[in-house]
Amino acid sequence: MCASISGFSKLSKSKKIDWIVETYFSNAEDAKRILKQYWNTNEKIQQLHDEFTENTITNYYLPLGVAPNFLINGKLYTIPMAIEESSVVAAASKAAKFWMDRGGFKAEVISTTKIGQVHFMYYGNPETLKNYFNHIKSQLIEDAKPITKNMEKRGGGILDIELRDKTKDIKGYYQLHASFETLDAMGANFINSCLEQFAKTFKTEALNFNAFSAEEKIIQIVMSILSNYVPECLVRAEVSCKIEDLSEDKNISAEEFATKFVQAVKIAEVEPYRAVTHNKGIMNGIDAVVLATGNDFRAVEACVHAYASRKGTYSSLSHAKIEDGIFTFWMEIPLALGTVGGLTGLHPLVKLSLELLHHPTAKELMQIVAVAGLAQNFAALRSLTTTGIQQGHMKMHLMNILNLFDATDIEKEILTEYFKVNTVTHSAVVEAIENLRIK
Ligand code: MEV
Repeated sequence: MCASISGFSKLSKSKKIDWIVETYFSNAEDAKRILKQYWNTNEKIQQLHDEFTENTITNYYLPLGVAPNFLINGKLYTIPMAIEESSVVAAASKAAKFWMDRGGFKAEVISTTKIGQVHFMYYGNPETLKNYFNHIKSQLIEDAKPITKNMEKRGGGILDIELRDKTKDIKGYYQLHASFETLDAMGANFINSCLEQFAKTFKTEALNFNAFSAEEKIIQIVMSILSNYVPECLVRAEVSCKIEDLSEDKNISAEEFATKFVQAVKIAEVEPYRAVTHNKGIMNGIDAVVLATGNDFRAVEACVHAYASRKGTYSSLSHAKIEDGIFTFWMEIPLALGTVGGLTGLHPLVKLSLELLHHPTAKELMQIVAVAGLAQNFAALRSLTTTGIQQGHMKMHLMNILNLFDATDIEKEILTEYFKVNTVTHSAVVEAIENLRIK
């Protein structure tokens, strides 16, 4: 049934639920029961979740798993991962263990600059605009002092503001293109507040700039917003070892594995169809840690994929080489993350995840997240170039299929044993359950 409603947001939570279940569900009581099953019995926690967003009708759970044995720059971590996909956490753990025995991961933050822009329209003389910008620049920074002073005390703040002429793309279009250092905060609110202040000063003071004609004084601000594209907020993660130390697999020599692995990466570098899946595997690791630590995975996703296309073709984020008998696998990716502000101080599981990671700074978290992505990519490519992905995947997927058929604990035990030596496919699992139940 299609239905519209006005004033929905003003209804109480229970009235919202009543309307939803009665309007959309054939069995309203059943739907209500499911929604209630996912409420937290602790009222304070439930209220917190209700207030994270609007029109909350229940909570949507994701499992929080952990991948131990991550040796990063000589320090051991157990990494929290919020993800529903089977085998991601297992793959991360396996890759972590593999590299722990080979010196671990090296990670390094290359830069931490973030960007925000005031987009505006001006149709007058470009030279006069330049003069106005040079005249007003210090005041733009000064007027933002109430917003920036605390950040400055800690060593961050506004790094620079440039005037950018975009009139070749759109008639009359210019930008104030600003760069920021936001330290341990992701910085979205800080940057947006600064930008809105720049826009206000820029527009208002134009009225007092005598070199402008009457028309030139009317600067039209279109919008002020941070950019989630942060190619200068970059982290590098790397693993390397002697080729002979690579293989643990009796069926493939270390040299053959290294060669196939590098070929697989090269394919993702030149072939966008493969690159998207290759990078998706990297994001399996990245998103899971970004989510567990209360960061904005949509921002990270949007940025990473733009970065993967920066040379004009969508390409692999990771790279691999064999040189002088050494295998090296690495990745540089942009990550705008925070370990203070936002959800980090609010969501109990986010706080727990950050404590598990020894309360990292934003720079440390960038390194951990990049490593999780590289580890995930290593695990995927290792399976793909040796056994194939389905063997491991379907083993992990077995539990999902068993749950789909409400398998009991005993049934799960018997069938897990059975599928240790038989190939898992959806139909094979269904047949095995049916056979078991007939018996
Ligand atoms: C599945 O979630 C991710 C992989 O497809 C990644 C890849 O192919 O590299 C296994």
